[in-house]
Amino acid sequence: MKGIILAGGAGTRLFPISQLYSKQLMYVYDKPMIYYPLSMLILGGIREILIITTPHDQPQFKKLLGDGSHIGLEISYAEQPKPEGLAQAFIIGEDFIQNDNVCLILGDNIFYGDFDFFRDAIADFDHGAAIFGYWVRNPQRYGVVEFDKAGNVVSLEEKPAQPKSNYAVPGLYLYDHTVVARAKNLKPSARGELEITDLNRVYLEDNQLLVQIMDRGIAWLDAGTPQALLESNSFIGAIEIRQGLKIGCIEEASLRMGFITPQQLQETLSHYPQCDYRTYIERVIREYE
Ligand code: DAU
Repeated sequence: MKGIILAGGAGTRLFPISQLYSKQLMYVYDKPMIYYPLSMLILGGIREILIITTPHDQPQFKKLLGDGSHIGLEISYAEQPKPEGLAQAFIIGEDFIQNDNVCLILGDNIFYGDFDFFRDAIADFDHGAAIFGYWVRNPQRYGVVEFDKAGNVVSLEEKPAQPKSNYAVPGLYLYDHTVVARAKNLKPSARGELEITDLNRVYLEDNQLLVQIMDRGIAWLDAGTPQALLESNSFIGAIEIRQGLKIGCIEEASLRMGFITPQQLQETLSHYPQCDYRTYIERVIREYE
C-alpha cells in the first residue's frame, strides 16, 4: 500500500491567512497540520508517500519534510496547478501508483484514537475500494453514505442539502490501481471538480466498494475553517497536556513502526534545536531502548 496526501487547494475558507502559506502547513497546537495525516499513514505501515501541493507551496513542504529518509520514509512530491478536485490526485499520481494499492488522506483531516481499524482495513484490502462512514451532526457538509437495514450501501451523495443519513465519509480512502483509469473517466461536477464521491460511486456500481463504520471512539476533525482549526488546536492540546504524550509526532510513529532505529532517530534529533519537541522524542527513545 502506498500513500498520497492531498495538500493543495486554495484554502479559501482560511483567507486571508491562506494567502501567506498553505492551510496544511498551519499549526495545530504544536506541529504543522500535515504531521497528523502523515503520522496516520506511518502508523498504517505506509512508507512510500506522495505529497500533492500547489506549485507555489511545494518548496515549503520540501523544506519541512525533505525526502523523508530522516524518519525512514520515501517521500516524493507532485504539483496540482489548480484545485480541480480530490479525484485528480490519482491522475497526478499515476506514475507513483503504478500497479499498487493506494491510500489517499486529505491533508486537513485529523484522526485520533485506536488506529487498529485502519491497520485492519489495510491488511484486509485486496481490490476495489474501501471507505469509511462516521456519524456527524452536520452531514450536509460532507460526502454522505446511506445504508439499508442490512448495512448495504444504498447511495453516496456529495454535500446533499437533505442528507439521507448522518454518516459522513471522512477524507481517508483505500483504492486498488484501477483508480487511475476510473479517475480519468470522470466528468467534472457542476462546481468544476473531479469529485471523490463520483469516483466512489463508480466502485459502488461495480460492486467493488466496501464502506466500514468508523467507530465513535475515533475522533475525526477536519481543520478547514477558522472554527475547526481552533477546535482542533484545543482538542489536540487538551489531550497532549493531560497525557504528556504527543499526537501526530511523525518521528515517534516511525520509531514505533520500526521504520527507523533508535540510533538513526538520535542522529536525526541532533539536527533539531533544544526544545520540548526534541525532549519528548528523546524520552520516547529512552523508553524504547
Ligand atoms: O473532509 C472530508 C470531505 O472532504 C468529504 O466528506 C467529501 O466527500 C470531500 O469532497 C471533501 O469535502 P471538502 O469540502 O472538505 O473538500 P475540500 O474542497 O475542502 O478539499 C479537501 C482538502 O483537499 C482541502 O484541504 C484542500 C484539498 N484539495 C481540494 C481540492 C478540491 C486539494 O488539494 N485539491 C483539490 O483539487
